[in-house]
Formats: sequence, structure tokens, C-alpha cells
Amino acid sequence: MGSDPSRFIIFMVFSSLLSLIVCGDGGGSRSYDPKALDALFRYYANQTLNDHRRTGILRRVSLPSNFSGMEVSVNRLRSGSLWGRGVDSKYVKIPPSVRTLPYVKRLAIVYDNLGNWSSEYYQVPGYSFVSPVVGFKLYDNTDLTTLTDRNLTLIVTGKPISIRFPYLETKEKNVTGLKCVGFGKNGSVEFKNMTKRNVCVTEKAGHFCVAIPTPKPKPEEKGRVWKWWVIGFAIGVVGLAVLVSVGVVTLKWWRERKIKDMEEESDSSVALDTFWVRGGHKMPFASMIRTQAAIEHDYVP
Ligand SMILES: *[C@@H]1O[C@H](CO)[C@@H](O)[C@H](O)[C@H]1NC(C)=O
Ligand SMILES: *[C@@H]1O[C@H](CO)[C@@H](O)[C@H](O)[C@H]1NC(C)=O
Ligand SMILES: *[C@@H]1O[C@H](CO)[C@@H](O)[C@H](O)[C@H]1NC(C)=O
Ligand SMILES: *[C@@H]1O[C@H](CO)[C@@H](O)[C@H](O)[C@H]1NC(C)=O
Ligand SMILES: *[C@@H]1O[C@H](CO)[C@@H](O)[C@H](O)[C@H]1NC(C)=O
Ligand SMILES: *[C@@H]1O[C@H](CO)[C@@H](O)[C@H](O)[C@H]1NC(C)=O
Ligand SMILES: *[C@@H]1O[C@H](CO)[C@@H](O)[C@H](O)[C@H]1NC(C)=O
Repeated sequence: MGSDPSRFIIFMVFSSLLSLIVCGDGGGSRSYDPKALDALFRYYANQTLNDHRRTGILRRVSLPSNFSGMEVSVNRLRSGSLWGRGVDSKYVKIPPSVRTLPYVKRLAIVYDNLGNWSSEYYQVPGYSFVSPVVGFKLYDNTDLTTLTDRNLTLIVTGKPISIRFPYLETKEKNVTGLKCVGFGKNGSVEFKNMTKRNVCVTEKAGHFCVAIPTPKPKPEEKGRVWKWWVIGFAIGVVGLAVLVSVGVVTLKWWRERKIKDMEEESDSSVALDTFWVRGGHKMPFASMIRTQAAIEHDYVP
């Protein structure tokens, strides 16, 4: 006896501190890898093409339900057709006079619109996205059975490729400083001034979006700071409450023990008073209480 309640208190304090730390961590840290996502799109696009063998038709790729919010389609075409006529999908327009290096007889183009997932997979420090991320990737499909990644490079000899974004989410109509952002193969990021509303131009495959520089004294940011103050305050209050309750419990426990012990003392009517030292050992203490009591008694008239 004696060490159990203190152990319990230590456990309580420790576990509440731990829970605070865990809560402050803010949940799981999933990693969203754009490369892995491209590989998944390739896999499902391959299935779609194997179900539909005809060339030259844009097909919607069906994805598992946990991809809800993304939009993927695939097109198989001959290089000659790309060169002669170009290809126009919903968001990407490749004009004529574009070819690939190395040359392949047939290619498959996988288009994607990441929708509300855009900023999970792509971020640019200091910028906020005002459009979803839209992209396309080229694969060799000469054998008609699989999408082979051969790092096909586009050679644009005429007009550039244009990316049309489904929407721009700008709060004001009249926004300046919109930037076309291009995400390249090796994680490179390229900025261009936007010249036409909703349209960016490129000469490379990849992923694209429209972004604006995040202003420094942004109201949203202020809101976030304010939120952190509130959270910090709440944590402080909770911590204080825990500390206070622990203190109260400890005090109560000490007092109870002391009272109990005093009761025991009086029961056994030991001549010497005792006082407590740490660890619950009793020390005999030659008290002056009796003499004091005598004086007090004398004082009574
Ligand atoms: C959907 O689930 C699959 C397998 O469980 C996973 O590989 C994929 O990353 C998930 N998709 C998203 C968008 O999280
Ligand atoms: C995107 O929206 C879909 C529903 O349209 C939802 O299931 C999905 O969880 C959302 N994704 C993100 C990252 O919020
Ligand atoms: C595409 O599908 C074919 C036939 O099902 C399969 O042999 C091939 O490995 C697949 N390729 C990819 C990249 O998934
Ligand atoms: C394509 O390029 C990537 C790096 O950008 C490289 O890791 C990969 O092996 C290349 N694939 C082929 C088939 O050359
Ligand atoms: C757009 O903003 C500029 C200055 O930033 C201003 O001169 C122009 O009149 C505005 N146009 C509209 C249509 O609000
Ligand atoms: C990415 O590749 C481009 C050429 O395609 C090159 O100029 C650039 O330096 C590379 N960036 C990194 C970080 O490797
Ligand atoms: C892009 O726009 C900024 C102003 O918004 C200008 O200073 C810069 O020269 C422009 N760059 C190009 C390549 O046009």
C-alpha cells in the first residue's frame, strides 16, 4: 500500500499528456504519390483499351469507387493520325504537326482530371490552385495489348498543345497574376503567365493547373492562426484541468491517509506524537503538545 495511488496518478498524468500529443499530431499522414497514381491510371486505361479494341475513340476509364472525384479517359491512335489531324479530348487539344520521339506506330494517350484530389497530389509552396490539375501521358500501344512506357517525347512543330481547364475558382472576376503551372516528369515545376482565360499552352506531356501566389496577409491564413490560438488555448485549459484534478486527488489522498493514521494513533493511544515524512514512514516525535496543552489549561480562567 502507499505506492499504488501514486502510481495511478502518475499513470493518469502520463496518459493524458500522451493523448494530448497524439491529438495534436492531427491524424494519419497519407502520402499521395503522383507517380503511383499515373501507374494506376495506366493499369485501368489498359483494361479499358483491352475491352474496346477500336482505335481513335476517346474512352472513359472506369476507376474503383475510392477514386471518386477523378476523371480519366484514354484514346488509342496512330502516329500518322496524330501528325495529320491532331487529337482533341475534353481538356487537352493536340493540334496537327505533333509527333513523338521515338516514333511509335500507335500510341495511347491517358488524360486525367484530378478534380477535388488535385491538391492532395500536387502542391506548389507559395501558390494556391484555382483550377483542378489536368494532365495527359503518352504510352506506346503499337502491339494493341499493353501500354508501354517508353518516355515518349512530343515534338511540336506547329501550334502548341492547349490545356483547357474545366473551371477557375477565383473569388473575384478580375484576378491578376494567374500562373500556368506545369508539373514535369522528374518532379520539375514550370511557371508561365496565363495568356488566355482557362487555357494554358505546353509542348510537353505532364500535369497542369492554374495557380495564384498566396498573398501573405491572407484572411484564410489569419483564420488558421486564430484557429491555432483557440486550439492551443483549449489544450492549455484541458491540461490545467488535468493538473488541478490531479492535485486535488493527491491532496485528498494525503489528507485521508493522514486522518486515518491519526485515527489509528488515537485508537492505539501511543504516548508519542508522530509526523509524516515522505514514503509514509512514521517518525517518533517528542512533542511539546502536552506541555502546551498544560499551559493552555492554565490559561483558562
Ligand atoms: C484506392 O484503393 C487502392 C487499393 O486499396 C489504392 O491503391 C488507391 O491508392 C486508392 N485510391 C485513392 C485515390 O486513394
Ligand atoms: C472528392 O469528392 C468525392 C465525391 O464526389 C469524394 O468521395 C472524395 O472523397 C473527395 N476527395 C477528396 C480528397 O476530398
Ligand atoms: C495490359 O493488359 C494486358 C492484357 O490483359 C496485360 O498482358 C498487360 O500486362 C497489361 N499492361 C499493363 C501495363 O497493365
Ligand atoms: C523513363 O524515364 C524515367 C525517369 O524520368 C526512368 O526512371 C525510366 O526508367 C525511363 N523508362 C524507360 C523505358 O526508358
Ligand atoms: C480589373 O482590375 C484592374 C486593376 O487591377 C482595373 O483597372 C480594371 O478596371 C478591373 N476590371 C474590371 C472589369 O473590374
Ligand atoms: C528534370 O528534367 C529536365 C529535363 O527534362 C531537366 O532540365 C531538369 O534539370 C530536371 N530536374 C531535376 C530536378 O532533375
Ligand atoms: C509575366 O507577368 C508578369 C507580371 O504579372 C511580368 O512581370 C512578367 O514579365 C511576365 N512574364 C512573361 C514571360 O511574360
